[in-house]
Amino acid sequence: MPTRLVIPNEIAPGERRIALEPVVAKKLIATGVNIALQQGAALSAYFKDEDFTDVEMVADAAALYKEADLVFKVMPPTLDELKQMKDGCTVVGFMVPSKNAEMMQLMCDKKITSLAMELVPRITRAQSMDALSSQASIAGYMGVLMGAQLAPVFFPMLTTAAGTIRPAKVLVIGVGVAGLQAIATAKRLGAIVEAYDVRTATREQVESLGGKFIDTGVSADGEGGYARELTDEEKQQQQDVLAKHIAMADVIISTAAIPGRPSPKIISEAMVEDMKTGSVIVDLASEGGGNCELTKPGETFEFKQRVTIHGPLNVAGELPIHASEMYAKNLFNLVSPFISEEGNLELDFEDDVIAGCVLTRDGAIVHELYSKSTKSGGAE
Ligand code: NAI
Repeated sequence: MPTRLVIPNEIAPGERRIALEPVVAKKLIATGVNIALQQGAALSAYFKDEDFTDVEMVADAAALYKEADLVFKVMPPTLDELKQMKDGCTVVGFMVPSKNAEMMQLMCDKKITSLAMELVPRITRAQSMDALSSQASIAGYMGVLMGAQLAPVFFPMLTTAAGTIRPAKVLVIGVGVAGLQAIATAKRLGAIVEAYDVRTATREQVESLGGKFIDTGVSADGEGGYARELTDEEKQQQQDVLAKHIAMADVIISTAAIPGRPSPKIISEAMVEDMKTGSVIVDLASEGGGNCELTKPGETFEFKQRVTIHGPLNVAGELPIHASEMYAKNLFNLVSPFISEEGNLELDFEDDVIAGCVLTRDGAIVHELYSKSTKSGGAE
């Protein structure tokens, strides 16, 4: 029997993305797998059930999970969802293992093979499977649009009969995938863009997009192309230079992150005090606590009726059609090379991409970052 792939409704509050869309469904069917989708599950991303040809629709989640060999998800499976799954099945999605110790344990108990999309190695071959990147680029784009909407000023320079409007100054902090997309989007809207990152390689990237790189004299290139945490001295040096640029910005888009750590606090209360009246901070690092020490994740408020601080969560979910299309393609590119001619999923655990993202297998946590905690029943 070919592998039965199922896609359930995403039940996390406010989650509008779905792990399959019609074009990818067709490509998957061509590999020989059978697909079942929970009825109406893709409507939040504006895909109707009838858009999916040759996909079985199942109304009830329990019935869907009971027959599943392979489950595609966006958000981590809940304990209740896992309990409904067949022992020994495979689940692919974002897993956030550090926050989901009970989920990890239950996946071990049920001998579920889990692949964590956020652990797909950032290597050239895996770029088409990199869901962190696909979703981060949406966040960077949306973050700028949010900033433009909240700002009481135009972004472009305008010459009008009522006078000339000067362009807005946008400061992007953290130039990873989200930051680069934020720079490109703010430039397209006509803003003057400055950007800053602790990784030295980003200077060239900022400049190639027409932005001005802010040099604080601090570089913190860490392992695997990521940033490392700064020392206290480095933080002070960074803050002294950045403070001036923060004070001049109309809109700040902050995206700085360090894998596995809370977001670095870069914008202090004193810096916000010095910002221009009417300026805006869009803190895209809110998911990890925020880059501004005043950010309230999930909330928007005005600091002293002067500076709007916006702490959006799940920003990629705000663009559910394209976020789902890109995410579904990432899943397809990850899994399809391992579907046999008979339509069976046969993962190769020696493959470096699969080895890099497999979290649980054969009743144990097998990922090196989390396996230490197997005995105590959860990941740190
Ligand atoms: P991220 O979301 O982990 O972090 C965002 C940015 O914040 C990073 O550029 C980081 O250097 C910066 N940052 C951290 N601490 C900071 C601080 N104190 N001040 C200012 N900036 C700070 O980054 P993302 O987008 O996940 O990219 C991480 C790395 O992975 C980058 O080197 C990127 O080029 C690389 N990458 C490689 C890919 C591939 O080869 N397949 C695909 C995508 C990313």
